[in-house]
Amino acid sequence: MLTLNRFDHISMAACDWRAQCARFARLFGFRFLREFTPRPDTPFGGSVSRIRNTATEWEILQPDGPDSLVQKFLDQRGPGLHHLTVQVPDIEEAAAELERLGVTPFGGISEDSMWRMAYIHPRDSGGVLWQLYEPKRAEPVNGTRGEAGALGFRRIDHIAIASPDLDARAVWLERVFGMDAGRCWEVPDRGYKGCMLRIPATELKLEILEPLGDEGFLQTFLARRGPGLHHVSCEVESVDAAVEALAAEGVSPAGGVDESGWRRNFFISPRDANGVLFQLFEEPEA
Ligand SMILES: [Fe+2]
Ligand SMILES: [Fe+2]
Repeated sequence: MLTLNRFDHISMAACDWRAQCARFARLFGFRFLREFTPRPDTPFGGSVSRIRNTATEWEILQPDGPDSLVQKFLDQRGPGLHHLTVQVPDIEEAAAELERLGVTPFGGISEDSMWRMAYIHPRDSGGVLWQLYEPKRAEPVNGTRGEAGALGFRRIDHIAIASPDLDARAVWLERVFGMDAGRCWEVPDRGYKGCMLRIPATELKLEILEPLGDEGFLQTFLARRGPGLHHVSCEVESVDAAVEALAAEGVSPAGGVDESGWRRNFFISPRDANGVLFQLFEEPEA
């Protein structure tokens, strides 16, 4: 399996990174860290923001010109989650290990001024574009403090992927990334089952969701978009306060507040969050 140093960032594609970055700063407290500008070999610009209580960052990509791969992504799928990036100690070793695991990094090993990189294509990973990188020089890692934003954001708990075959995906993620499966559950009346996996070298978790039966939100998602990144789940200080703060933005919870499940929670529709489905939950009071 791969050795991971850390989970570096979650990336999304947007039409206008400035507007997107400002909105997520307001809502979630994601604080702007730096901008990057398009170059001939990377025809996209964007920003990186810090997320409270984690060393993982939030990246926003904006295409530069009609031929940009980010523009192609936007044309095909619209704005939303784009890739996940992890740091490895040695990119050659990581690429060789992927080959041993039967996964050929597409495009080989590439580099820019800061990083040497390899990619796992979504067709090999159940719909997720993974970027692996080795920094060329030591990088500062963010502290873990940060702001809570209007929604009272505390932390990201997990990133969820939709898959037609949970067991096979869990085995793959364990073989390739060393993720180990924890709690698994079934919710037949909502048409899905799930499993939570721990990711090495980060407090973030990965959730796999698989449809049960013929109808439900996941069946619709898979039919429309295929397997891949589904939602980001965040703890907030208070569900009620977050609902109120969203109402001030003219946004209401998609499907209302769920009182029945694992935690009191609600979803913000991708329509209201530039293509990203967010779940916000609160921990029960001790
Ligand atoms: Fe990225
Ligand atoms: Fe989830």
